[in-house]
Amino acid sequence: MKHLLATADLDRAGATQLLDTAMSLQQNLLGKQVRKLPTLRGRTVITVFYENSTRTRVSFELAGKWMSADVVNVSAGGSSVGKGESLRDTALTLAAAGADCVVLRHPASGAAHRLAEWLDGTGTAVVNAGDGMHEHPTQALLDAATLRERLGDLDGRRVAIVGDVLHSRVARSNVHLLSALGADVVLVAPPTLLPVGVESWPVTVSHTLDAELSELDAVMMLRVQAERMHGAFFPSAREYARSFGLTEARAAALPDHAVVLHPGPMLRGMEIASTVADTPSSAITEQVRNGVHVRMAILYHLLAAATEEDET
Ligand code: CP
Repeated sequence: MKHLLATADLDRAGATQLLDTAMSLQQNLLGKQVRKLPTLRGRTVITVFYENSTRTRVSFELAGKWMSADVVNVSAGGSSVGKGESLRDTALTLAAAGADCVVLRHPASGAAHRLAEWLDGTGTAVVNAGDGMHEHPTQALLDAATLRERLGDLDGRRVAIVGDVLHSRVARSNVHLLSALGADVVLVAPPTLLPVGVESWPVTVSHTLDAELSELDAVMMLRVQAERMHGAFFPSAREYARSFGLTEARAAALPDHAVVLHPGPMLRGMEIASTVADTPSSAITEQVRNGVHVRMAILYHLLAAATEEDET
């Protein structure tokens, strides 16, 4: 693997390899007070975030540090981007400074792909940490890791992705990945929050959450992305919650084994009832924990696995 830009680039075998590595790293570190592996000693990871983040940014930093990489964090606000430097010049500067891997979050769909093209031949790997409304592959991988931990094999499992599908890179990445892993995906959203062309996706579509609940193995609630909405996509927050929020009553209608996910940050009381987010069926904190191990696995496969194979 040269870069990780989209789950659309991962087949079942490739995704399973990453998820298995993440679980073995988790086992390796389980119960250890000192979480430090020598795997990436001497390698440099630079995270570049042009949009806000808590989970993705922190977990990439921890993932690199727990494997002994040097990790440098750049935010658009505190960098020469603020003086008008282009993304291309920023990328070439980071590669010239010695980045083995650049982790990029950017508001433009396709930004990570462009970065990978510009860095071709430099030996610097690129990881997409979320590009506009396009993809968020590391989020989908940590979601799959969490579902596998709770449910085992995902073959034939029914997973609903609920809410603002239109603006969601998490939804796009999960549709590709969950389908590759054999799950049946149902998108549940009002027509206004579904993208044009969704009919060609490997999913079924529903506008009625209540009709889906009893058949689900997992329900993934999406964040309503107000910052990407230029217009009214639903009448009010209250109306949205009434039709598409995971209320206590709806959570009670799920099968006992069903898992509740949310990528965060979540709007409690609108997308998901506060009490539901904190119940044992909710795997939201497990998603965050798995995020570190999944990102360790990604850095391992990009930066260490090829070298180890060369040396054997
Ligand atoms: N899920 C997710 O990407 O969260 P952050 O924006 O906090 O990184």
